Amino acid sequence: MRRLGVDDLPALLELERAAQVLPWTSAALREELAHVDGEVLGVFAPALVGYISLRRIVDELWILNLATHPDHRRAGIASGLISAAKDRATSSAALWLEVREGNAAARALYEHHGFSVVGRRPGYYPAVGPQGAREAAVLMRAAKIGKR
Ligand SMILES: CC(C)(COP(=O)(O)OP(=O)(O)OC[C@H]1O[C@@H](n2cnc3c(N)ncnc32)[C@H](O)[C@@H]1OP(=O)(O)O)[C@@H](O)C(=O)NCCC(=O)NCCS
Repeated sequence: MRRLGVDDLPALLELERAAQVLPWTSAALREELAHVDGEVLGVFAPALVGYISLRRIVDELWILNLATHPDHRRAGIASGLISAAKDRATSSAALWLEVREGNAAARALYEHHGFSVVGRRPGYYPAVGPQGAREAAVLMRAAKIGKR
């Protein structure tokens, strides 16, 4: 695992497009790679197979995005990235994130790592596909203590 920089943008974009239903754009990924309060960590095997995008907001650490390549899932890659995020959280601060209400895999992952639901934002995410409806975000939080 290592920190990603702007030179990693092509590999990150390729992973994002393979992993996500609605992938972030190249411009959005570039902004995260360059952000002064951001940190993007990647796992290589040997190509980039997983990443997490973190943003520090005052004393909170937010997980802005997280993905594992479909060929490498259920191998603990996302778990390792969440553990690295917990290591970076300050002792007083919590980790925060938002996730699509219907994203059962991600919600199971976060619950596995001690996150609990603390809020809901109706209609927060855009629809997937022309027939879809907007979807709620679930706001989740984990304390640094109880790291797994
Ligand atoms: C969600 C995601 C990141 C999980 O990545 P991963 O590397 O496969 O996760 P891990 O192997 O570390 O899983 C750890 C635990 O999380 C839970 N989990 C992960 N995927 C799961 C799934 N599809 N169904 C149920 N539980 C799941 C399990 O408890 C798992 O432990 P186990 O394999 O021993 O049962 C991956 O499925 C993904 O990239 N999804 C698309 C992108 C996405 O939705 N990102 C979240 C944005 S908020």
